Parts: sequence; structure tokens; C-alpha cells
Amino acid sequence: MKGLILAGGSGTRLRPFTHTGPKQLIPIANKPNILYCLEDLRDAGIVDIGVILGDNQPEKVRELLRDGRDFGVRITYVVQGPPRGIAHAIGCAESFLRGDAFCVYLGDNLLKGGIAAIVREFKGSRAEAGIALCRVPNPEMFGVAELNAAGHVVGLVEKPKEPKSDLALVGIYLLRDSIFDVIRTLKPSWRDELEITDALEALRAAGGTILAHVVTGWWKDTGKPEDILEANRLVLDELASNVEGTVEPGAQVSGRVAIGRGTLVRSGAVVAGPAVIGRDCVIGAGTYVGPYTAIGDRSVLEPADIENSIVLTDAHIATRHKIVHSLIGSHTRIDEDEHARPKGTRLVLGEHSRVRL
Ligand code: DAU
Repeated sequence: MKGLILAGGSGTRLRPFTHTGPKQLIPIANKPNILYCLEDLRDAGIVDIGVILGDNQPEKVRELLRDGRDFGVRITYVVQGPPRGIAHAIGCAESFLRGDAFCVYLGDNLLKGGIAAIVREFKGSRAEAGIALCRVPNPEMFGVAELNAAGHVVGLVEKPKEPKSDLALVGIYLLRDSIFDVIRTLKPSWRDELEITDALEALRAAGGTILAHVVTGWWKDTGKPEDILEANRLVLDELASNVEGTVEPGAQVSGRVAIGRGTLVRSGAVVAGPAVIGRDCVIGAGTYVGPYTAIGDRSVLEPADIENSIVLTDAHIATRHKIVHSLIGSHTRIDEDEHARPKGTRLVLGEHSRVRL
């Protein structure tokens, strides 16, 4: 079986982060989202993997994954360019995928427990397609499946105004060659995309069986900032402690905490897990890093008071203002000058930034 990870799309809801790269590279607990997808495929025995590249700095995906060897897989890149829909992206990869069943994984999805069980079930079946479903409180934001009493799929609709169930389509699809002919017949939807949900519905309407697997653990589509913070919390909930950096005597580190090589937690700093701090950071005296925080490599917090937040790499924070529920981009500087007049909040923010004071 082959795999296909989608790393295209526009990522408009994640600006300004997507000004500096594709959304699939945003780190969740200090690891780019796309690597969780790659590892799930590999752990399900799928090592021949296509990666769809969009038009937003695709070279950053290539820089991270290269030929896949570092991650124990073999990668073939497929250029889609501007986003024209998930089904369009799959169609772009036809020559790579043809001849084998395959698993499509949306590169901004995160699933607890991986995909091995779903892949195994599909391999052992003669179904035309396999989907994963998860119960959600807001099904209108997703593709939605309707099942009958026997658990068979009897309808699939993309982002319905009036959902027939609370079963959202997870961004994992098991497919066969039959999907390519269906994709060729699709018409663009209201959002001007070739929808995978429409392709699956067409397979089903033509008599194909769609195997549905309802996931029991958590699932996150990290399409919006609040989803990224929640995914970060969910991953950190399972973090194993691992201190490779230096914790000076007089620093307090409690709970499950991972601290990368070259990082210094100075005397007088407090780190309360679950939290992850990358490599070569400085956590200065008087700094508090609270639960559910991820600090990227080479960041300096001297001092800071932060929790439930993600700080990307090379940030510099020096303020006693409490920072909560925040996403802070790479190379960001936050500081304060108590003598500056007039007093007030001074901001230098990039396009599409958001500040809540
Ligand atoms: O996350 C699950 C949902 O994903 C499903 O419930 C929906 O049925 C499915 O349509 C999809 O909905 P989204 O609106 O969240 O899709 P999004 O545009 O965010 O794209 C999903 C991923 O695929 C994302 O990583 C970007 C990538 N993508 C998307 C498009 C439209 C591409 O690589 N190329 C594309 O043309």
C-alpha cells in the first residue's frame, strides 16, 4: 500500500503563521504536524509516500522531509500548485498511486492512536473506500457521514448546513484505483474545489461499499489557531519526561517536562509540566513556563510568565505581562520598557496578526 500526504492548501485561517510556510509545518508540541502524519503511515507499514506540494513555500516541506530516509520512508513529491480541492490533489498523484491501494492523509490532521487499525481493516476488506469518522460537537464544519442502523454509510455531505449526524470525516481516506475515474467526472463545489466527499459519495451511489471506522481517541484538524493550541494540549498530555539540557540548582522543574539539548534553565526559573522546551533555549531567572506550553529551539525567555501557549523558534521574550493561550511566531520579540513615555502598548505586527489585550 502507498501513502499520500497533502501539504498544499492556502492556510488563510492560520495567517500570519502561513506567511512563513505551509500550515502542515506548524509545530505541535515542537514537532511539525506533517511528521505525525508521516509517522502514522510508517507505523502502519506504509513507507512509499507521495507528498502533495502547494504554492505556499513548498520548498520548506522538501527541506524538512528531503527523500524521507531520515524518517524511515521513501518520498515522492507531487506538485499540485494552487489549491483546487482534495480530490484534485489526489488526481495529481495518479501516476504515483496507480496500481496499488493507498491511504491519503491530510497533513493538518492529528489522530491519537495512529492509523494501523484502520489500514488493517481496509486491507482485509473488498470495500471500494475506507473512511474514518469522529463524533464532534460542530459537524457543520466538516464532511459529514450518515450511517444506517447496520453501520453502513448511506450518505456523505461536505460541510452541510443541517448535518444528518455528528460523525465528521477525519482527514484519512483509504482508496483504490477506482477513485481516479470518479475524480475525472467531478464538478467544482461552491468553494470552487473538487471535493473528496463528493468523490466518495459518487463511489457509494454507484454501488461501491464504503467502510467506516469510528475513531475512539481524539482527533484534531489543526486548521485554526485554537485547534493548534488544543492539539498541543492533547499531545503534551502524553508527553514523556526527558531532560537533556541543564537545570541549574535553584530552578524548579515539576511534572512531565522535556528539555532539549543545549537549553539552560537558570536558577530561579520555574517550569511546570506538561511542557516541552526545545534545544539551545534560555529560561531565565524569574521565568515561569506553565502547563501546556511548547517553546521552540533557540528561544530566550528572560523573564517571562507564560502558559498554554506555543512559542516558535528564535523568539525573545522579556516581560512580566502574563501570556496565555497564545501562538508566538519565530523571531518574535516581546519586551517592555517601564520608563518609556507615553505609557502604552507598542506593537509592530505583521500582516494578519491578531492581538487580544
Ligand atoms: O480535516 C478533515 C476535513 O478536511 C474533512 O472533514 C472534510 O470533509 C475535508 O473536505 C477537509 O476539509 P477542510 O475544509 O478542513 O480542508 P482544507 O481545505 O483545510 O484542506 C485539508 C488539507 O488538505 C490541508 O492540509 C491542505 C490540504 N490541501 C487542501 C486543498 C483544498 C491540499 O493539499 N490541496 C488542496 O487543493
